[in-house]
Amino acid sequence: MKPYDLLIKNGTVVTATDMYQTDIGVKDGKIVSMDKNIDPDLAEDVCNASGKLVLPGALDVHTHCQMPFGGTVTADSYLAGTRAAACGGVTTIFDYPVQHAGEPIMGIVNSKRDILQYDACVDYAMHCCITDLNGGLILDEMEQAVEEGVTSFKCFMVYKKERMMVDDATLVRILLRAKEVGALINVHAENPDMIDMYTEQFLATGKTSAWYHYMSRPEFVEAEADKRAVHWAKHLNTPIYLVHMADKEGLEACIEAKLEGAPVYIETCPQYLEFTCDVYKRDDGRNFVCSPPMKGQESQDALWTAIKAGLIDTIATDHCPFQTYEKDWGKDDFSLIPNGCAGVENMYPYMLDAANSGKLTFPKVVALCATNPANIFGCDNKGSLVVGKDADIVIYDRDKDFTVTLGTMHSDYDHTIWEGKEFHGYPVQTYLRGQLVYDDGEFVGKPGMGKYIKRSPRKVIKA
Ligand code: URP
Ligand code: ZN
Ligand code: ZN
Repeated sequence: MKPYDLLIKNGTVVTATDMYQTDIGVKDGKIVSMDKNIDPDLAEDVCNASGKLVLPGALDVHTHCQMPFGGTVTADSYLAGTRAAACGGVTTIFDYPVQHAGEPIMGIVNSKRDILQYDACVDYAMHCCITDLNGGLILDEMEQAVEEGVTSFKCFMVYKKERMMVDDATLVRILLRAKEVGALINVHAENPDMIDMYTEQFLATGKTSAWYHYMSRPEFVEAEADKRAVHWAKHLNTPIYLVHMADKEGLEACIEAKLEGAPVYIETCPQYLEFTCDVYKRDDGRNFVCSPPMKGQESQDALWTAIKAGLIDTIATDHCPFQTYEKDWGKDDFSLIPNGCAGVENMYPYMLDAANSGKLTFPKVVALCATNPANIFGCDNKGSLVVGKDADIVIYDRDKDFTVTLGTMHSDYDHTIWEGKEFHGYPVQTYLRGQLVYDDGEFVGKPGMGKYIKRSPRKVIKA
């Protein structure tokens, strides 16, 4: 028996702060050695990474697989979503089961785990969306959830008509409880009443196109709720994680609070960095409908500036694809378009392409897509390439050109907002705990390979 199952040889390892040449020895799924000249004869299998970058697998901490939503169920099953993840260099996903009102939270979490144990192609964790305190019982159950590794929960400040929203009093009770049990609360911040009012007004006056999805939830509708969320985080001194942040004014409020020392974390998504609200004027605008919607150029610029300044903590995808026929339900009424877009396979390539073209550094991308999410959400064995961590490894070829088309993706959806996007540089291999799951365009793993990640209660460590 050789000391290593796998040796990654001659590559340039990227950490959240550095890039350097080293070999990586892997045994039983763990990184056991990082040394400049490991003898290839010591390994069962050798990956020649000469001329390539060697990156930690990304964590996409925001996905919605086979989720009932918008009158249907999202187009990617857990199998398809995690298969696509592997092919985009994502080795851990965090999905968002939504509590059924009146029911315990662990019921829904466990029912998802039952599926994932057979279907997951990469490792997985869950944030649970709390929609109802169930007479206060859920506050007790949060502690049990944390003990079982579910250390973050999501609250919707929106989706009132969909009965997923929590009001401010409920949000505050959950925030205070989270502080006690070592959990982190993720918040989708938009003002529901304004959205419902505008939606009603627009539809009543025949303004029905996808553009009015944006117009019913413009910048200030998100900003108001962002500020409200941050207000509670500041005054209760309890950590809060703002998901899919998309607007400048809200972003500035979060940054201000952060710089004052408030425990505020900010996530944004590639779609907000790539597209503006102009997409809603396109004939296929409904395919881009997600909430919050893409915003104007000023917001997009502000997001990039904040990323470069290290003021955004994570990039995640909000992967939530729907099929074309489902998006078409809203051809003549934007309020009927299921909200959400695909992205799990595109995030790491998109951000790495930004690094490859000099817009960001590679360590910054590793921090945003791997190290920070692992640290913020208590994945102790994930997110960086160091001895003792899981051997979740992506080999990246800086010279490979790649164009996104439906045919080159590995999901079950029938269209993608990323169609035609060209990348210079692309992942060529993904290893999940030392096992090859993606090889040059092909998924080569097996459903069921992914494991549940039992997370540690919150600790505030940032790369
Ligand atoms: O449009 C979106 N984002 N759909 C998924 C649900 C959510 O709000 O994250
Ligand atoms: Zn959301
Ligand atoms: Zn989401």
